[in-house]
Amino acid sequence: MAALVTDSPTLRQLTLRYHELATPDLLNPAERQVWDAARAATAHSYAPYSHFHVGAALLLADGSLVQGTNQENAAYPSGLCAERTALFGLAGSRPSPPPRIVGMSVAGRPAEGDFSPALPCGACRQVMLEYEMRQGEPIWLLLPSLSGTVLRFDSLADLLPFHFSATDLPARA
Ligand code: THU
Repeated sequence: MAALVTDSPTLRQLTLRYHELATPDLLNPAERQVWDAARAATAHSYAPYSHFHVGAALLLADGSLVQGTNQENAAYPSGLCAERTALFGLAGSRPSPPPRIVGMSVAGRPAEGDFSPALPCGACRQVMLEYEMRQGEPIWLLLPSLSGTVLRFDSLADLLPFHFSATDLPARA
């Protein structure tokens, strides 16, 4: 394997911003509500193939919650992740533009066993970011870490540097 170049003049480094809370008990009431809603949502997951149940919860500006879960399919790629069922479910069922999303959380657990870390996949990050950019207001995100702490991202943009967006598309006449 090629050695890592760490002292090149062309090297640039990114700083990734997030907060780490020792336990979910340190979340404020609104955050805790979203955290709990994501965990509760895992009960509605349809995961007969992976047996990994994922729940996502969105907190809207009016204080209401929207949940989503992974929905699998015998034709594997036809299934969808919890984050996208939540976001598409919301945006696809309301007048456009959809209500503003304030924050979200994701939780995962095996069919048998306790909750385990479930970080959004790349495709979900791309979709999540589109909704943040669309509303022009940041969306915070709470994720469980491997060590049992809570990771709080202040903006979904912090999760996907070098993303593809509408600005990469050619301008239309
Ligand atoms: N999954 C999600 O729901 N969200 C993610 O961001 C990662 C993966 C689901 C998809 C599939 O149903 C199961 O977890 C195992 O990959």
